[in-house]
Amino acid sequence: MEDSKNKNLEEFYLNSGFATRALHAGEHVGQPQHVAHSGAIYQTSTFVFQDAAEGAAIFAKEQPGYVYTRLGNPTVRLLEAKINALEGGDFKRANPDVGVYTQAFASGMGAIAAALMAVAGAGDTIIMGDVVYGATTHLADNVLKRMGIQVVEVDTSDLAKLEVVLAAHPHAKALYLETPTNPLLACTDLAVASAMAKAVNPGMLVMVDNTFATPFLQRPLEHGADVVLHSTTKYINGHGTTVGGLVTTIDEAYKNAVFTVLADVGASPSPFDCFLINQGLKTLPLRMKQHCSNAMAVALFLEAHPKVERVFYPGLESSPHRAVARKQMSDFGGMVSFELRGGVEAGRTLMDNIELFTLAVSLGCVDSLIQHPASMTHACVPREKRLAGGVTDGLVRASVGVEDEEDLLLALDKGLALV
Ligand SMILES: Cc1ncc(COP(=O)(O)O)c(C=O)c1O
Repeated sequence: MEDSKNKNLEEFYLNSGFATRALHAGEHVGQPQHVAHSGAIYQTSTFVFQDAAEGAAIFAKEQPGYVYTRLGNPTVRLLEAKINALEGGDFKRANPDVGVYTQAFASGMGAIAAALMAVAGAGDTIIMGDVVYGATTHLADNVLKRMGIQVVEVDTSDLAKLEVVLAAHPHAKALYLETPTNPLLACTDLAVASAMAKAVNPGMLVMVDNTFATPFLQRPLEHGADVVLHSTTKYINGHGTTVGGLVTTIDEAYKNAVFTVLADVGASPSPFDCFLINQGLKTLPLRMKQHCSNAMAVALFLEAHPKVERVFYPGLESSPHRAVARKQMSDFGGMVSFELRGGVEAGRTLMDNIELFTLAVSLGCVDSLIQHPASMTHACVPREKRLAGGVTDGLVRASVGVEDEEDLLLALDKGLALV
């Protein structure tokens, strides 16, 4: 049936004018017959309806189908389905009656902004970790504030402090945190923090930015969180080729609110980017194992180096966050931050001279990156506030890649010798 329709179309286009042929010939040939082995790229802004009745039914949600890529697209859907299975697979097995929903976004910040705008409005309060990615703090201090949303900050890894803040704001709409945090790698006990939030207010959504851990190492839904956020720009894509974000939740009403923000604000991802992210995800477990083992080696090397003052890595025996990380993560991740004894100048010399570690922001790429939070990723946070949270002027952050371990240690050794 489809074949004969396509044959007729081909003949029709052969007999039409050049401009018509340029536009229409081949466009619909064979579409329903072929199933691509590798998720196909539906690089299209809109979708064809078989007839007007079908279009109306899809619009009315009486029938499944795609309408317009801002609202949904099969390549984007593939990514969302894969994340549902990775973030929510084990959770769903234990809770078969609870749905897991993921919405993809054009960037991590698009996802975070939509996630917060979907839960709070003028007059509402959100409790947020005091050290999170710089742009998230900037979003809270600027956009959300202008919208009339109050953001109360607290070190969520300090459960006693968190308890006090929760008790003072029982009507807060959400508790938003990162674990491990960017850039200090502090870890919050998700099970305890979630239980504390729910005890104060069962309706408070617990939202976790899981970018540093990825679902391979940590799945917040299994520890009581309601919402998981990602910048797919990082480990999920893994190759530094796209910018993207995700919101995953088990709350159906909230999922609908997030979709409404996405549809109305238009922070939708490109199908081509989602194709690349899907390709990256296929090797997430392989990459993460190598990131973790290399990062542990780098952290141990730095901790033993006479020019290094302090190392932040939750896998170190000396880390105050090791116990919490061990409890909820299967390994400690690929990010290592450190301070040199020579302060800012020493850090600058290292970043300007080190081999293999490319001087660039972002993280989670297969190759190693190095950057200076105070003047780069967290430069948009006022200095006083940044220092109060422990992000010093001398802090250096490394995203440890999957190169050979000995080459990374040699690069650090040579770089530190110049300091
Ligand atoms: C922990 C964390 N969350 C969110 C973001 C924002 O993601 P994006 O740059 O994709 O908007 C970043 C970016 O560095 C990040 O490190």
